[in-house]
Amino acid sequence: MHRVTPEIEALSREILTYTMDRLKMDPPELDHPLSQAALEAAAGQTITESGLGGETALRLFIDTLAPACISEDHPRYLAFVPTAPTDVSTLFDLVVGASNICASSWLEGAGAIYAENQALRWISDIAGFPPEAGGVFVSGGTAGNLSALVAARHDWRQKQPDHATQRGLILSSRGAHASVQQAAHVMDADLIQ
Ligand SMILES: Cc1ncc(COP(=O)(O)O)c(C=O)c1O
Repeated sequence: MHRVTPEIEALSREILTYTMDRLKMDPPELDHPLSQAALEAAAGQTITESGLGGETALRLFIDTLAPACISEDHPRYLAFVPTAPTDVSTLFDLVVGASNICASSWLEGAGAIYAENQALRWISDIAGFPPEAGGVFVSGGTAGNLSALVAARHDWRQKQPDHATQRGLILSSRGAHASVQQAAHVMDADLIQ
């Protein structure tokens, strides 16, 4: 079904070589963002009628786009929430991507969800959560804050029938991440900071 052309074979070798080089190298010196105008001048139009082709797209990423992003594995990167993937987890992202699976429900993703549940159980035990604790991995902090707040409201509404029609109120510190304000907005809940 999947026809792997010689071009894709060659590109896969280049991609794997770059990936292994990037994993082995010391993180690039602290990069920095560029302005929209500077990126337009350096990268130009990236979506074209006939496509850039894999090799050109890879070079564009390596030479121009990646240096306009801060490599968060740099030891002097202390801002925000640095990602800390191990080499193995980065490589496994490649494996999971190539496997073309969807972990939305047990029907199509039982194996992946089983593994996700094992990881969640491990984290729950570290946090001292009870055996019935469950969860799901989400894409980032914004989705995590929103899902946690919706889950908390659901629980609050289940416990008292007269809560079902009541508007929620979230209390947070003024230092809370901006996504808490966005979550309150999405949930149509009040927020006191
Ligand atoms: C506490 C907290 N919540 C939410 C976020 C937003 O995360 P994301 O950009 O992954 O949605 C961050 C990101 O730094 C955060 O530190």
